[in-house]
Amino acid sequence: MIKASDFGKNFLWGVAVAAAQIEGAADLYGKGPSIWDTFSKKAGNACNFYHSFKEDIALVKLLGFPLFRFSISWPRLLPKGTGTVNEEGIRFYHEVIDECLRQDILPYVTLYHWDLPDALEQEGGWTSFGINNAFNEFVTLCASEYGDKVTNWIILNEPFGFTSLGYMLGIHAPGKTGVTNFFSAVHHAAIAQADGGRIIRAEVGRANIGTTFSCSEVIPYTQSDSDLLAAKRIDTLMNRLFVEPLMGMGYPTADWELLEKFAISHSTWRHTSRLTFDFDFIGLQNYFPLTVKYNAFVPVIQAWEVKAKNRKKPHTAMGWEVNPNSFYNIIKQFAAYPGIKNLMITENGAYYKDIISTDKHIHDTERIAYFESHLTALLKLKNEGINISGYMAWTLMDNFEWAEGFQARFGLVHNNFKTQERIIKDSGYWFKDFLAR
Ligand code: BGC
Repeated sequence: MIKASDFGKNFLWGVAVAAAQIEGAADLYGKGPSIWDTFSKKAGNACNFYHSFKEDIALVKLLGFPLFRFSISWPRLLPKGTGTVNEEGIRFYHEVIDECLRQDILPYVTLYHWDLPDALEQEGGWTSFGINNAFNEFVTLCASEYGDKVTNWIILNEPFGFTSLGYMLGIHAPGKTGVTNFFSAVHHAAIAQADGGRIIRAEVGRANIGTTFSCSEVIPYTQSDSDLLAAKRIDTLMNRLFVEPLMGMGYPTADWELLEKFAISHSTWRHTSRLTFDFDFIGLQNYFPLTVKYNAFVPVIQAWEVKAKNRKKPHTAMGWEVNPNSFYNIIKQFAAYPGIKNLMITENGAYYKDIISTDKHIHDTERIAYFESHLTALLKLKNEGINISGYMAWTLMDNFEWAEGFQARFGLVHNNFKTQERIIKDSGYWFKDFLAR
């Protein structure tokens, strides 16, 4: 049976959360509205972490994770995005960080996990060039406030995630659609990830700096030329769009004519030097692979996902295919970039429909199997010499799962959103045992 010590004693084990998904207190203590408050108005009190962070960090400790990844809410520090600082917000994250340190938990701080101040969205959000100065102001503030306590920094959470879902498909906040919005947002986010790295490097001594990418192995449905090309387009979009400019390779325009056209019409896309930064680690976040086939009716991308369910493959309650072999393959794909020195898995996890037994237990055996199989694939990569230094499970407790609301539960700990009662699931106990051995 796999155990944490198989990965060596320097391997870092953590559990991850994000401010907008757990904090609650969305309009309290001086916090300004975020795009998620405006877009869905549903997060409400979420997990009430704002008031229960001490107990929740104690849960991290109890489960045996030495590392806690959380994010700072930009509109809690800067209610309008720039300018006036909310001192209560500043104090809150000092307390969270201090509590981690007091409980001997290593804080990993994410600077942007999707809760853009709504005031900035009114000026165009990620589609506007002004976003970069605003983001840099926020990063500088975080560095000067917390830089003497926090060594480990993550600049962006999944730039492809928030630009595609929020600015192209309109499923996530701010609900914008269209290719033009998307590509503008992409470019500003790509600048932000590198600028953010530079600011932390300049302001924080001995910082360990990373940024994260979502990634999915893209598998062609058949070996036909049209399916192979469709898979290549999706791979370019989902896996290469942000990492390659960061590595100094520019946008992957050669492999997709539409990107090339956009790049020609936006001369700033050619300015690659501002897009590069030498990160100490790259965070990869993987949940599922994608099987795609050519479809002429889909605008722009001309590709379509063939769902796991329709292919009769194992999948989570989210419909996402469970495939640890694909987890292995996509990490290998990223590890092949010569510019990536060190990888961390900064998110991985699964939503299954949990059932609470009458004696208040949650026997989430499918989630345990998911973690076990993915960690086995990770160990294989590590043993093959791929430089992977840590793994963070998603997520500590059931929370506000963006467009899915409170329905989709990914936690190691169950949360009752009415009473805020937390119950450790069997998967939480499984991790505790795994980490202890
Ligand atoms: C995001 C998390 C989210 C998880 C599960 C990731 O893309 O970073 O915030 O909860 O996926 O959907």
